[in-house]
Amino acid sequence: MKNRIAFITGIAGQDGAYLAEFLRARNYIIHGLVRWDSYVDPMAGLERLDALGLVNDNIHLHTGDVTDAQNITALIKDIAPDEIYNLAAMSHVKPSFDMPASTLDINAKGSLYVLEAVRLLGLADTIRIYQASSSEMFGNAPAPQNENTPFAPCSPYGIAKLSAYWLARMYRDSYGMHVSNGILFNHESPLRGQDFVTAKIVRAAVDFEQGRIEPLMLGNLESLRDWGHAKDYVRGMWMMLQQQSADDYVLATGQAHSVREFVMLAFAHVGINIEWSGSGIDEIGMDSRSKKILIRIDPDLFRPNEVSHLLGDSSKAFTKIGWQPAIGFEALIADMINEQRKILHGRAGAEGSAWARMAG
Ligand code: GDD
Repeated sequence: MKNRIAFITGIAGQDGAYLAEFLRARNYIIHGLVRWDSYVDPMAGLERLDALGLVNDNIHLHTGDVTDAQNITALIKDIAPDEIYNLAAMSHVKPSFDMPASTLDINAKGSLYVLEAVRLLGLADTIRIYQASSSEMFGNAPAPQNENTPFAPCSPYGIAKLSAYWLARMYRDSYGMHVSNGILFNHESPLRGQDFVTAKIVRAAVDFEQGRIEPLMLGNLESLRDWGHAKDYVRGMWMMLQQQSADDYVLATGQAHSVREFVMLAFAHVGINIEWSGSGIDEIGMDSRSKKILIRIDPDLFRPNEVSHLLGDSSKAFTKIGWQPAIGFEALIADMINEQRKILHGRAGAEGSAWARMAG
C-alpha cells in the first residue's frame, strides 16, 4: 500500500514534533514547514525534532511561512499531501496582547491561506485538513466547556484562533472539504516552550533541587487549566482525520487544576513542600523546611484579561472517535520533571546535546 503523505505546518513546535514522531511510526512520508530562521542556521528552532531523533531522518523540511500565501500554495502543490495538519501559530496568549495584528495575520490569515490553497489547487476532495483550534476560544464561558458552549474569547490569540475555527467550518460547509477543528485544552510535555507556565515551573523546581537561589517569578496562581500530555493530543489530531466525515472535537482531560496546585505538585516531586504566606502581589511561597523564599509574584506576568477556568468535556471525542487521554496530571508532571533532570545532567555531562540546547 502507498505510504500516506502528511504536511505539518509548525512541525518544529511541541505538537509538530510529537505528531511527526507519531506519524513516522505509522509509515507516513512527512513534510514539515519551518520558518526562515532555520535557513540562516540550519538547526535553529529544530531542537524538539532533534530531541526526538527526527532531523535527517526522512523528514522533509521546507522553509516558508503560513503568512505567505504563494509559498504555502506552491508547497501544497508540490507535496500533494493526503493530510495537512495546520499547527503553525503564534501560540502565546500574553504576548498576543502586545502583537494583536501579527497574531491575527499568523493565526487567522495563515489558516485561511492553507484552506484557500487546497481549494484553488482543486484538491478539496483529496486532502484532509486538521485545524489547531484552542480552548482559549472559550474565554470566560462557564466551565465545563464542550463543542456546544458559546465561544467568548478574551485575548487577541483567542479571537484569531476563533476566526480560523470559523474559516475551517466555512470551507467544510461551503466546499465540502474534509476539515476538522481540534479544540484542544492545554497540553504540555518535556518539549513545552519555557514561556508556558508548566515548563517554567518544572524548570524552576529542578533548578531548586540543584541549588538555585533566585525566586521563581509567577503571575496569576488562581487560574484553572485542564492540562493533559501533548502525546495524547497528537493521537487525537490524527484520529480526527481518519474519520469518514470531518467534524469538530474538544480534546481535554476533564480535570482542572490551578497554577498554584501545579506549583505544589511539581515542587513536591523534587521533595520541596511549599508554604504560602501573604496575599495578592505580596504573596510568597517558601520551602517549609528552610523558609527560603522560592516563589514571588510579578504583576507584569498578569494578563490584561484572564481566562480563569478552562475545563473540557471531551465526551464527544470519546463517543464518536474513541479518543481519551492515557496520561494523567501526576504522570504528566513526573514526565516533565524527569526529562528536565536529564536535561540538567546532559548540560553538565554532554554539553551540546539536543535536549540541553532546547533548554537554552
Ligand atoms: N505563561 C505564564 N507565565 N503563565 C502564567 C505565569 C507565568 O509566569 N504565571 C501564571 N500564569 C498563568 C496564566 O495567567 C494562565 O492563566 C496560566 O498560567 C496558563 O498560562 P500558559 O501556560 O501561558 O498557557 P495558556 O493557558 O495561556 O495558553 C496555552 O493553552 C491554550 C489552550 O487553552 C497555550 O498553549 C495556547 O497556545 C493554547 O491554545
